[in-house]
Amino acid sequence: MTREGCGRLGRTTVGRRVELAGWVHRLRDLGGLLFVDLRDGSGIVQLVVRDLPDAHGLSREDVIRVEGTVALREAPNPALPTGEVEVVVERLEILSHAKPLPFPVDEEEAHASEETRLRYRYLDLRRPRLQRNLRLRHRICSAIRQYLDAQGFIEVETPMLTRSTPEGARDFLVPSRLDPGKFYALPQSPQLFKQILVTSGVERYFQIVRCFRDEDLRADRQPEFTQLDLEMAFLEDPEDLFGLLEGLMVHVFRETIGVELPTPFPRIPYDTAMARYGSDKPDLRFGMEIADVSDLFAGGAFRAFAEAVAGGGAVRALPVPDGAGRSRGELGKLEEAAKGLGLAGLSWIKVADGLSSSIAKHVPEAALQAVVARAEAKAGDLVLLAAGPAAKVALALGELRLRLAREGGLIPAGAWTPAWVVDFPLFKLSEAGSIESEHHPFTSPNDEDLPLLEVEPLRVRAKCYDLVLNGVELASGSIRIHRRDLQERIFRVLGIGPEEAERRFGFFLRALEYGAPPHGGIAFGLDRWVMMLAGERSLREVIAFPKTATGSCPLTGAPAEVDEAQLRDLHIRVEG
Ligand code: AMO
Repeated sequence: MTREGCGRLGRTTVGRRVELAGWVHRLRDLGGLLFVDLRDGSGIVQLVVRDLPDAHGLSREDVIRVEGTVALREAPNPALPTGEVEVVVERLEILSHAKPLPFPVDEEEAHASEETRLRYRYLDLRRPRLQRNLRLRHRICSAIRQYLDAQGFIEVETPMLTRSTPEGARDFLVPSRLDPGKFYALPQSPQLFKQILVTSGVERYFQIVRCFRDEDLRADRQPEFTQLDLEMAFLEDPEDLFGLLEGLMVHVFRETIGVELPTPFPRIPYDTAMARYGSDKPDLRFGMEIADVSDLFAGGAFRAFAEAVAGGGAVRALPVPDGAGRSRGELGKLEEAAKGLGLAGLSWIKVADGLSSSIAKHVPEAALQAVVARAEAKAGDLVLLAAGPAAKVALALGELRLRLAREGGLIPAGAWTPAWVVDFPLFKLSEAGSIESEHHPFTSPNDEDLPLLEVEPLRVRAKCYDLVLNGVELASGSIRIHRRDLQERIFRVLGIGPEEAERRFGFFLRALEYGAPPHGGIAFGLDRWVMMLAGERSLREVIAFPKTATGSCPLTGAPAEVDEAQLRDLHIRVEG
């Protein structure tokens, strides 16, 4: 007899004799009568076991094989897809015993610490929720491959043992045994290899690929994570890529969660995103757009605001729907939060029958009215006002916007709001005050900004774009530099001299000299994508074997010490 899937049994299989094998999901012992929920990869079905000596001593998660006959249930269980039937067991064999479980595996929510869950990941992964997530991840990857294959892309693997790729994080290094004192770096992304591939004539490349970054971890960051990485030759206009990728998004959403995404996705210039949403990854599922009101306070009687404007800064207003009822105590707490975000203070206007405001003494009613109108606040709303350097005000109000929307339940469930953020600056200032790439050094500047490159680098815009979904940066890419002279110019602006450029990137610069076509591409954070479609809040729920927040793997105990002999082979001495 061949093995049937538990989840495939139903009304149409009544009377059939079947063999099943799986895990004991739940167990009810009524003396001589035992009810077992048996689980395998296809689902769960109820077994009825009468007077079988082997069944005594069964416990949860034991692995058993049974033979029996499918029968209609007297009391169907509508919560179970197979709930109309049960299998009356005639033979039962215990294939493997399970010790008492450290936590239950039949429940939707995990009832154990993260450390325990990860240490017993084989049990944790048996939970229906994680099984669903693994399957969803597989279906997303299949849908991606199906779509890109139909568009003429081919999947090509690139090395894991390689040289440092500058994506802004620390490298994980692997010492070479054969070449003492030298190290491979694990790739932060396949960036240079994919550019070399298009130069090699692979006009449409993609890869679902592991990347490694030794950076501080958060809920949406893992030290090893997966990208959907892609690159196209002869891509000069980002719009050509946007159309293709919107098609990919539509296909994946339709095939996996049955949602139709409307296209085209909005295009939002970086400056607009920062001004209106205080973020380069705006969450567009709700309004609360930030308004610039600097002109209303320029030269005015309220010194703090007038001085901010005179000093080149900005005054901005954030409307909070239905916020007018907040008490002074609550507003005080908001101001504390604002200070924690780097603002000097936070003023407010309550829109009720009339206006009341923390700055009413200093600002004429007409100006307050104008602020309310500009912020599009209505009766019952609150308007928060902040002044200071424009970038600081933007980021702080952007963060308050998100916190208040979350706390106020203003984010609609089930909404999907993808958007392209475009026209990023090419460079930014590092904390130490040096020029850094906003994206990475291989991003092409806007042609009309080229004359600014050496004189006003911070004003140069890039042919660079992010795909943002519900306030999360899902993907990031750019049109690349495909000429050696321009690439070297960019390196110079970044303070990378000819010798360093040759040492670190000589292999790549040479490739650009042998007929590199114009090209561009993008990389999606695949784990983030799965996390969002699964409705999860942490990448750890959608990665089979993730790392903890401190980068360790409780299952295997990695990272771990190694033998002295191994270190000797690698010419490495550990100090301390
Ligand atoms: P970038 O560094 O922006 O671009 O990465 C692309 C996308 O990868 C995801 N991502 C991460 N996901 C989980 N954990 C991490 N530590 C992590 N870091 C990044 C994000 C991000 O948008 N080579 C370029 C792409 C290109 O230019 O084509 C690159 O890697 O979703």
